[in-house]
Amino acid sequence: MSYLEVTKDLYKDAALTPNEGLCCTTTPIWRFPGLNIPLIMQQMNYGCGSTVHPRDLVNNPKILYVGVGGGMELLQFAYFSRQEGGVVGVDVVDEMLEAAQQNFLVAEKENDWFRPEFVSLKKGDALHLPVEDQSIDVAAQNCLFNIFKQDELRQALREMYRVLKPYGRLVMSDPVCDQPMNDVLRNDERLRALCLSGSIPLEEYVGMLAEVGFGTIEIRAKRPYRVLAPGHYPTEEIIFIESVEVCAIKDPMPMDGPCVFTGRSAIYFGENEWFDDEKGHVLMQNQPLAICDKTAKALASLGRKDLFISESTYHYDGGGCC
Ligand SMILES: C[S@@+](CC[C@H](N)C(=O)[O-])C[C@H]1O[C@@H](n2cnc3c(N)ncnc32)[C@H](O)[C@@H]1O
Repeated sequence: MSYLEVTKDLYKDAALTPNEGLCCTTTPIWRFPGLNIPLIMQQMNYGCGSTVHPRDLVNNPKILYVGVGGGMELLQFAYFSRQEGGVVGVDVVDEMLEAAQQNFLVAEKENDWFRPEFVSLKKGDALHLPVEDQSIDVAAQNCLFNIFKQDELRQALREMYRVLKPYGRLVMSDPVCDQPMNDVLRNDERLRALCLSGSIPLEEYVGMLAEVGFGTIEIRAKRPYRVLAPGHYPTEEIIFIESVEVCAIKDPMPMDGPCVFTGRSAIYFGENEWFDDEKGHVLMQNQPLAICDKTAKALASLGRKDLFISESTYHYDGGGCC
């Protein structure tokens, strides 16, 4: 059986018998006025971060969510979109789609603003999305793509890119791991399906988004996720896994590569009112400007004594220019 089939079986079981500890995370569950998240959706929260950012959701976007789980994030997206078919959920596991559909009936009872027709569920595979080209404003996936091996990951990202409109956003949360993992871990299909042994370094993850064509990439959050320790897992060293929230925007690709925002800022503290690098960045005296990694590198290479450039915080939430 291929690892993709093992994954389907595992999530069939997780649909039939909710498993609260499956992908638990320190990310708090978003709560908004008038939004009640049914307990069953919380128990079936199999994500490792959040893909719901109100800032992405202005102007009635058409939202696609791949890998529906218990439906919690689809409900959160529907809270913002509130239109028939505004949120399309795709999943390859029938039992998961059925469980989510049932959970939306519970959500309807607990939320007077919610109508089940706000969400439309479709059977389909992340590798061949049943969705038209350039029809989606915001595409999201949470804790699914890390399971894919490199070829499938590339294919899944290409599919998301294909269905997004120009300037559309791909919002994702996934585990990442900067340490090498041994082959026993990598080839353990069950650990991979459990989102424990498929994760790749953040730099590689970002590189694949760029390769697919996303011109802007934002690292919005990075948090501790899991430790694979000897005695518990087939490893001789302790492996630290983090979870990230990333937004990739289908902007045109700049000539010098993507603008990757990792939470860096520059502050000019010289004698003048501002500093202009003549490449589109004007830094007002003693005011922070969020910058992408390319700009951070270019400003640092000027060797100026009146420019402060911060390290990556991996906490970027908009603002700035590249
Ligand atoms: C780790 S769970 C995440 C669920 C949900 N995103 C959440 O945050 O709770 C992975 C989800 O992807 C679905 N899935 C697995 N393989 C898939 C594939 N090839 N295409 C689409 N969905 C898939 C599973 O059924 C499950 O709903």
